Amino acid sequence: MLGLAKLALVGLTSLHSVHAATADDWRGRSLYQIITDRFAPPSDTAPARTSPLPSTCDPLAQTWCGGTWLSIIDKLDYLQGMGIDSIWISPVSRNIDVYTPYNYAYHGYWVNDPTTLNPRFGTESDLLALSSAVHERGMYLMVDIVVNNIPSLSVSASLSSSSLAADNSYWTDPSDFHPQCWIDYSNATSVEYCWLGDDKLPLMDVNTENPNVVQTLQSWIANFTKAYTIDGLRIDAAKHIPGDFWPGFCGAAGVFCTGEVYGSDIGFASQFQTQQWMDSILGYPLYYSLVNAFGAPMANMSAFVDIGKQVLSSFPHPEYLANFLENHDLPRWRNTTVDPQLAYNAIVAQHIFDGIPLIYYGQEQDFGDGAADPHNREALWPSDYANTTTYQRIGRLNKIRKAVIANNTQYAGHNFLDSRATFIASSNYDVAFRKGPILAVLTNRGSPSQNATFGVGQTGFTSQSDIVE
Ligand SMILES: *[C@@H]1O[C@H](CO)[C@@H](O)[C@H](O)[C@H]1NC(C)=O
Ligand SMILES: *[C@@H]1O[C@H](CO)[C@@H](O)[C@H](O)[C@H]1NC(C)=O
Ligand SMILES: *[C@@H]1O[C@H](CO)[C@@H](O)[C@H](O)[C@H]1NC(C)=O
Ligand SMILES: *[C@@H]1O[C@H](CO)[C@@H](O)[C@H](O)[C@H]1NC(C)=O
Ligand SMILES: *[C@@H]1O[C@H](CO)[C@@H](O)[C@H](O)[C@H]1NC(C)=O
Ligand SMILES: *[C@@H]1O[C@H](CO)[C@@H](O)[C@H](O)[C@H]1NC(C)=O
Ligand SMILES: *[C@@H]1O[C@H](CO)[C@@H](O)[C@H](O)[C@H]1NC(C)=O
Repeated sequence: MLGLAKLALVGLTSLHSVHAATADDWRGRSLYQIITDRFAPPSDTAPARTSPLPSTCDPLAQTWCGGTWLSIIDKLDYLQGMGIDSIWISPVSRNIDVYTPYNYAYHGYWVNDPTTLNPRFGTESDLLALSSAVHERGMYLMVDIVVNNIPSLSVSASLSSSSLAADNSYWTDPSDFHPQCWIDYSNATSVEYCWLGDDKLPLMDVNTENPNVVQTLQSWIANFTKAYTIDGLRIDAAKHIPGDFWPGFCGAAGVFCTGEVYGSDIGFASQFQTQQWMDSILGYPLYYSLVNAFGAPMANMSAFVDIGKQVLSSFPHPEYLANFLENHDLPRWRNTTVDPQLAYNAIVAQHIFDGIPLIYYGQEQDFGDGAADPHNREALWPSDYANTTTYQRIGRLNKIRKAVIANNTQYAGHNFLDSRATFIASSNYDVAFRKGPILAVLTNRGSPSQNATFGVGQTGFTSQSDIVE
């Protein structure tokens, strides 16, 4: 175990006396997910860290396309122009840097040394520069954290500390991992203790029953969040570690944590809040309901109403969930749903329902040529960061959210942030819900436009009153 020795030798490089962001600070924010390698190209102020770079970025080639922490800074204006005030960047820690059966670790999820930065994306001073640039704009910085699984080049290599060391792995002691077994998703114990990955690229499952492992991870994250003034963590594969690991880890980090709990099982997912394992999770249950409701013309609107109500009643704090329509593991929304009207309606639901709206880079550019990983990890720059209709509508939704939050605008004594969404009417194809002063009336009838009648009953608006669309 190298960790404790390393930690004891090196002091904190810098301590910032800023107030760490809490879940309540995050709930009024608007979040944007970035794969660092794919968001912005190298520039005069952001030198390439990989060379040579491919002349065009083919996601199927699964190699580095050149984005860095410094190049993200170039495009913060673009994000603010859409009302985005917080970014989630892909993992920053060092990865295996070799060719694998799944090509290269351009995405950053094959972390073999959490304590060292990934030179493919920049240096310590580059990450500090990004953190400062984000904070100067009043934005928040969230970093993706991978602790559950550590890549190995083969199952046999994973049993030999010498071959792990040869790959510069931080973890070399067999007691750092659970014994090898592949996950059986029908067995909850196996989900937590067995390994992700496969024979071609095993991902060893970290042993969080080993107190040295826990201590190392906690010391590292405490230092890391302070050193770079990180405001939040997105926790990869959160359901693959026993829940009682997380309060100590997120407590050491001292910042907001939102975990990836892949799947539609609300009973399981809501334990992250009911058991107080972490502040928040990514809104997978709501995502599936929005796909079922808005993913095709005249699809199943009751999926949104039913699941939406279950989310509200099962999670003590639905306002902390991060609600998304796309991410790096899922098909682009426009790949499965080409009708823009359906996308716009789903985006409104995503921004007005309880939670932190989360846009995946490229969603605002209507990227659709991306069925799933690796197709959905295109470079953003060929879009020229255009001022698309979707970009403008997201901007408008963020303006509305910000205005009612800043004004503490009320309806019947309820403001936006402190109130829960309430479904007030629905038909097979339409839905109306209120959250504080905002009333959202949505349809999945799709294009072309048609005349239809949908009664929303008591809106609280009196005849002739001015309402803002
Ligand atoms: C804390 O983080 C900084 C910045 O990454 C690093 O230079 C330093 O070595 C770390 N200290 C410890 C004790 O891990
Ligand atoms: C579930 O998985 C665990 C870990 O692999 C294993 O020990 C246990 O036998 C499995 N239980 C069943 C019922 O298969
Ligand atoms: C519509 O969604 C509801 C709620 O999730 C579900 O019970 C119902 O079976 C779905 N109907 C269809 C036709 O898929
Ligand atoms: C969906 O993505 C696949 C490849 O990922 C592409 O071939 C197909 O054309 C896309 N569909 C749409 C509607 O863009
Ligand atoms: C985008 O276009 C709209 C409509 O023309 C305009 O109001 C807005 O200022 C533009 N935004 C940017 C960032 O160029
Ligand atoms: C916010 O307050 C300002 C100033 O009182 C007012 O002009 C504006 O209409 C309000 N906006 C909302 C959305 O409440
Ligand atoms: C909807 O009804 C209005 C008023 O009757 C009419 O002007 C309009 O053409 C209709 N639109 C469609 C798409 O039928």
